[in-house]
Amino acid sequence: MILIIDFGSQYNQLIARRVREQHVYCQIEPPGIELSKISSLAPEGIILSGGPASIYEKNSPKVDPQIFNLNIPILGICYGMQYMIGSLGGKVDSVRRREYGLAELNICDQKGVFSGTNTITPCWMSHGDSISRLPHGFKVTASTENTKIAAVENSQKKLYGLQFHPEVIHTPEGKKMLKNFLFSICGCNKTWTMRSFIKKTIDEIRGEVGEKKVILGLSGGVDSSVAAVLLNRAIDKQLTCIFVDNGLLRKDEGESVKNLFKRHFRIRLKFINARRRFLESLRGVVDPERKRRIIGRTFIRVFEDEAVKIKDVGFLAQGTLYPDLIESRSAFGGPSAVIKSHHNVGALPKKMRLSLIEPLKHLFKDEVRLLGKELGLPDDIILRHPFPGPGLAVRIIGEVTPRRLSIVRQADDILITEIRKSNNYKKLWQSFAILLPIKSVGIMGDKRTFEHCVVIRAVTSLDAMTADWARLPHALLGRISNRIINEVRGVNRVTYDISSKPPSTIEWE
Ligand code: XMP
Repeated sequence: MILIIDFGSQYNQLIARRVREQHVYCQIEPPGIELSKISSLAPEGIILSGGPASIYEKNSPKVDPQIFNLNIPILGICYGMQYMIGSLGGKVDSVRRREYGLAELNICDQKGVFSGTNTITPCWMSHGDSISRLPHGFKVTASTENTKIAAVENSQKKLYGLQFHPEVIHTPEGKKMLKNFLFSICGCNKTWTMRSFIKKTIDEIRGEVGEKKVILGLSGGVDSSVAAVLLNRAIDKQLTCIFVDNGLLRKDEGESVKNLFKRHFRIRLKFINARRRFLESLRGVVDPERKRRIIGRTFIRVFEDEAVKIKDVGFLAQGTLYPDLIESRSAFGGPSAVIKSHHNVGALPKKMRLSLIEPLKHLFKDEVRLLGKELGLPDDIILRHPFPGPGLAVRIIGEVTPRRLSIVRQADDILITEIRKSNNYKKLWQSFAILLPIKSVGIMGDKRTFEHCVVIRAVTSLDAMTADWARLPHALLGRISNRIINEVRGVNRVTYDISSKPPSTIEWE
């Protein structure tokens, strides 16, 4: 395995992705990691990430400098390289001219990390400080016009440094450089595959759970579904999944979850119809954050009520993914402003004092999809667009009522059917309908109408942090609009949302 020390760079997860793409397992750890833990992890190599700080700043992140004496190959990237050089007796200076963006890298010697690369190759720079003096035993291996010391090595001690970012696509030969580090320098083997992960994780789950029972809140989304099938393989009937129908689901969603998990996978599934409870708790509520809080709270109560009925439960399973884990403990990511309170099964159930079991906590989303495929889950689940916990409630602006739910559900179904039929589903991050609480005048069959307006939202995105509205073909938009107005009673107008995120968000509430 490869250990990545997190100095706070925005590209950290990308480094991890690049390593895993090579079928090498890696783990990201904070700089405060103890030397004894590093030894017990026994990594084949260590990557020191970039980061926003300057190494001479008072509170700049530091890893135990004894790390350089462990006889483990180390690759320092940007801040990571400067930290290595500073710790080993070299000098780092603040430069007046920051270097940001593409630069031409001149490689002096195509050996080590540069084995097989071109002598001149583009690289992506993003730094204020630069190295001005090297410690004993190091030599310069590449430079750019502005940065004389753009890459260094001490090949005897297997210490390497890159001032630029090999992990981003703007450094086209970066992948080759990382591969050289992993395989030629660290001697890693390509052992990280989903099949090996399943085998290892099943053994671990069995060892941890023993004879106890496990409960899992199944939502029908990718993460909880994959976690359910994996746990089911490991502990079979010791797992009970709880699916809460909160009345805020899409058309036929509850039934299809029941069919798949109960009939196809034969998973023990408690299907709870809590529609009335949720709708009653939402009566008269208009404020988006209040809606979210009420739904979150009601969910916890319903879940707890059902969970306590199962005997000998020792564990609560969750489909937490690696990015959630890293972000929740990021060294520098101070508490960011709450834009929307995402409700998760995270905080529950307090009453029961259960231990958490999170079998996907070291995986990225695309790895979870691969895992789901390997476990036999259908594409319908694996490639499903994300659906928010509070469901259709945040897609009905204003009060949630049964009639409004029915309108938005029908409109959503038409939209998704047409998006799928036109082969656009896989190209989009998400597409859905929103119901506005306003009415406008229309004319249908020579009669005046005064009815609701539905908004269509379709976005492309890589990670939901930013998103762009999708340029769907006009003919498709026309078909969707026609069908919604003709088939959904109570709607006489359809509009298309052409805002990107930021400044808008993907969901409307
Ligand atoms: P926004 O609206 O913040 O959404 O741009 C970003 C992504 O998150 C999804 N979303 C949620 N997912 N619980 C979830 O599990 C929630 O409460 C929630 N709210 C928004 C949203 O659908 C989009 O993919």
